[in-house]
Parts: sequence; structure tokens; C-alpha cells
Amino acid sequence: MKKLIKNNVYWVGKTDWELKTFHGDDYSVNHGSSQNSYLILEEKTVLIDTVWTPNTTEFLDNLKSEVKLDEIDFIVANHGEVDHSGSLPALMEQIPNTPIYCTANAVKSLVGQFHHPEWNFKVVKTGDSVDIGNGKKLVFVEMPMLHWPDSMATYLTEDNILFSNDAFGQHFAVEELFNDKADQCLLWEEAIKYYANILNPFSPLVKRKIEQIQDMGIPIDIIATSHGVIWRDNPMQIVEKYYEWSQGYAENQITIAYDTMWDGTKQLAHKIGAEISNLSPDTKVKIFNISKADKNDIMTEVFKSKAIVVGSPTVSQNILSSVSGWLEFLKELKFKNKKSAVFGCYGWSGESTKVLRERLAAAGFDLVEPEINCNWNPKTEDFEKAYDIAKALI
Ligand code: FEO
Repeated sequence: MKKLIKNNVYWVGKTDWELKTFHGDDYSVNHGSSQNSYLILEEKTVLIDTVWTPNTTEFLDNLKSEVKLDEIDFIVANHGEVDHSGSLPALMEQIPNTPIYCTANAVKSLVGQFHHPEWNFKVVKTGDSVDIGNGKKLVFVEMPMLHWPDSMATYLTEDNILFSNDAFGQHFAVEELFNDKADQCLLWEEAIKYYANILNPFSPLVKRKIEQIQDMGIPIDIIATSHGVIWRDNPMQIVEKYYEWSQGYAENQITIAYDTMWDGTKQLAHKIGAEISNLSPDTKVKIFNISKADKNDIMTEVFKSKAIVVGSPTVSQNILSSVSGWLEFLKELKFKNKKSAVFGCYGWSGESTKVLRERLAAAGFDLVEPEINCNWNPKTEDFEKAYDIAKALI
């Protein structure tokens, strides 16, 4: 069943309350998600995006109950990634000549995935538009790296709706669709997690794109994303947040992330946390065992932090594989302007703090000098060094 967004614009997407992971298993989904697709019924009938492949049958059955498929005048594919395009092959089997408006890069993506170069692609660039009747137009805005090089947004004039695709989204299921109907704590928790784990590497582009959209001076009454809520209550609040998040964001928080073999490194983690709290009671301290906590949730806390402390025992002249994998992900996210410190226990050779330093430097973190490289289990003099780390970081 379609759901009304505004005037002749309807939601025809999929709300998935059972989804647990996204991008394979790379992104944890804690509160469901959605793939938002939209149907515009003006003089022209327009479908904006589709849904992920496993939901194709449900999507097409629903769409057919709302509109005859051969009455769809054209499709807008804001983004070629399969969570938005996965139902295109089945749809195009039934309406094979229907124009698909998308960027040149989206043609590469869609043809690369679905092997249908014969589809009727209409390549658009920023500022191109198409009339849909009743005095309304769709205007296209390229959004490279929000989320991939092919992404774009589509703006509906008169109704002032920006179909932003991945930008401003969250992996969050809200049956009522709109931001004012959502649990606000969960909404902002999911919005910042989505930014930290997906969009943070592209922050300079996010900042420039927001400035470009502001310069265009278009009125925006609704931001209709492709994941999570549709922003109708003060829609610019999420744009303002993105602008803030895109510029080296940090709160007064320090996050400690570690793994441990026989609890020595764990004891150091908690001692460092206690010293930070003691020295600076206003600083939020969060402590995570990398093997036990959700890696995406830890990254969200890193995003909110002005400094991080990373610990691993030495194993085979290296660090634990759990910490190593996590650091690879950390590097990918391109955090900026954050301090860091390292610690760990060892029995025989003691390379872990050196390895941690190299890996954190490669990930763009500024390292402070004090560290704890503790032989065997922590002694009083090892615990005392936690104070030096805390002092250097706050
Ligand atoms: Fe929601 Fe980049 O796909």
C-alpha cells in the first residue's frame, strides 16, 4: 500500500524490521531499516528508485496495485547501488523501453551489475531538469560520494521535495515514515552512526555539496531519503548536522578500545579510563573490548571523541588480529584532528605499542608520547603511567 508524502507524491518502498546487517555483514543494523522508493502521480507518472533485490516481488506486487506498470512514464535512478536498483531488472522486464534518468556513472554501475546496456538510459547532470506536468519539474543534482561516484539527488519543484537518496539517511525502521513520528533518541543515534561509518571519509565533499545546495537557494520542505525517516519537521536540521559533522567533529569524549588475552591489557584500559575521569570529570569516557562490542558502534563513539586510546597485547611480535582488523576499518574512515595513545601487555618481545603507533599514524591520528608497554601483568609503576596518558590526552 502506498503512503502519502505530500500532494501527489507517495512512498512505495520497503520497511524491513528484520534486517540485521547491511553491506554484507559490514554494517550492523540494530533498529531495522528501509529502502524508500517514491511514486509521483502528476501528468507524468514517475518512479524514484526501487528496493533491494530480495524485496522485489513484494515491491512489484505493491506497485502494480497502485499503478499500471506501463503507465510509468519514466524512472529516476538516483543511485546504482543494489539496495536502490535491485528491483530494476524485474521491473524492466515488464516495461523494457521506459526511460531511466541517472548520471553517467550510474549507467556504468547499472550496466555493470545487471548487464542490460540496451536499457533506455537518459544521462543527466547537475541542473538538468524534466517536466512532469502541472507546472512541476524534477531537477537533478549530482551528489558524487554521497554515497558513491554515481549518486545524485532529485528535486521536485512546487512541492519542494528533495529526494536525497543515501544522503541524510539512517538504517532505521519507522513505520510512520516521518522524522516527527520517530523515537528521537534512536533517530539521532542511527543518523550519527550512518554518518560516522559510511559518509565520514567523504566529509570534505559533504561540506562542499551542502554549500552548493545552499547557494542554489532552493526551498526545501521535505527531504525524502532512501533509508530511514523522511524529514518533514524542520528538514534543514539534518543538513545543519551534516555540515557540523563534516568539519572535524568531536565532543568532549575519549574512547578506549582494546582487546586482551589474559586480562592484563584489559586492566590497563580501565585504569586509563579511571584516570581520565578523575582528571577531567566533564570528559565522557567509553571503554570497549573490540572482540565483544559492535565495531560500527565503536566507530560512532570514535567519531564523537576528541581522542582515542588503543590497546593490544603483543602476540607473535604483532597485535591481536581483532585489533588489527579494527584498525584497518578505522583507517578507511579517515577521521581527522583526533589524538591517540597506545598501551598493551607482553610476555616476551613487546612490539604491540610500536605496531599500534604505526597503524594509528597511518590512520591519521596524532599520537601522544606517554604509553604503557607492560611486561607480564601490570604492576604499580605500569598503572601509574595511566595518569601520564590521561594528562597528555585531556
Ligand atoms: Fe543505500 Fe549507497 O546505497
